[in-house]
Amino acid sequence: MITLENIHTYYGTSHVLQGINISIEQGEAVSLLGRNGAGKTTTLKTIMGLVRPKEGSIRYKGEEICGLKPFRIARKGIAYVPEERAIFSYLTVVENLEIARVAKGKSHQGTWTLDRVFEKFPKLAERRRHRGAKLSGGEQQMLSIARALMNEPQLLLLDEPSEGLAPIIVQELQRITQEILRENITVLLVEQNLAMCTALSTHHYIIDQGCIVYHGSNEEFMANEEIKDRYLTLSAVEQATEGD
Ligand SMILES: Nc1ncnc2c1ncn2[C@@H]1O[C@H](COP(=O)(O)OP(=O)(O)O)[C@@H](O)[C@H]1O
Ligand SMILES: [Mg+2]
Repeated sequence: MITLENIHTYYGTSHVLQGINISIEQGEAVSLLGRNGAGKTTTLKTIMGLVRPKEGSIRYKGEEICGLKPFRIARKGIAYVPEERAIFSYLTVVENLEIARVAKGKSHQGTWTLDRVFEKFPKLAERRRHRGAKLSGGEQQMLSIARALMNEPQLLLLDEPSEGLAPIIVQELQRITQEILRENITVLLVEQNLAMCTALSTHHYIIDQGCIVYHGSNEEFMANEEIKDRYLTLSAVEQATEGD
């Protein structure tokens, strides 16, 4: 469904993505793992057209999308849920969802109606009249995903959805992501939560210092302790500062 080939992305003179290759099949979830600063968010931003690579190709459903503006990429059916949770804090849950639909165009008749979103996200239904700012972290994350669904995506890019959330909320998030996959939406999941990745994804990529250093099936990855130790275990310094 989407193939990134030899992607090189820079911030100024800093060469952040150094020839990334990733391929995702229709309807599957693929995780992109790696330490802080490895280039995960930059990879998602590059797909979405928010940063422009200097070199490389991104083919989506057979079409080159590299170099297109973000709104054009969104219209082709790719939605991005950023780490920082893109919701309007002064608008209610319903208003946040309606505004996402308006952005898609009035004539649009999609499968993700308000009723359908509330059926999938019961926590949001309870909070429909609350302002974004009054929601818990987990509810804000769910609203951020629900807003992305209002754009009827075929490919959903999720950037660390479980970050900072309690385990029970992470489980709820996992259930919702599973339901999204059942709708035949393809998911690229950036996560630090390995349990969530192995529960959802069929393939895993590990990025380190802007290079893909590992790619394997879920079974292969789960059995491969060495690769997890080498690229995913926190360093002593990171462990010492965890929770700061
Ligand atoms: N806007 C930016 N300008 C300059 N450097 C950036 C910017 N965003 C990220 N970086 C750098 O690019 C590298 C990759 O960052 P990022 O993709 O956010 O990593 P990750 O999401 O894996 O933690 C890091 O070294 C980070 O400091
Ligand atoms: Mg990131």
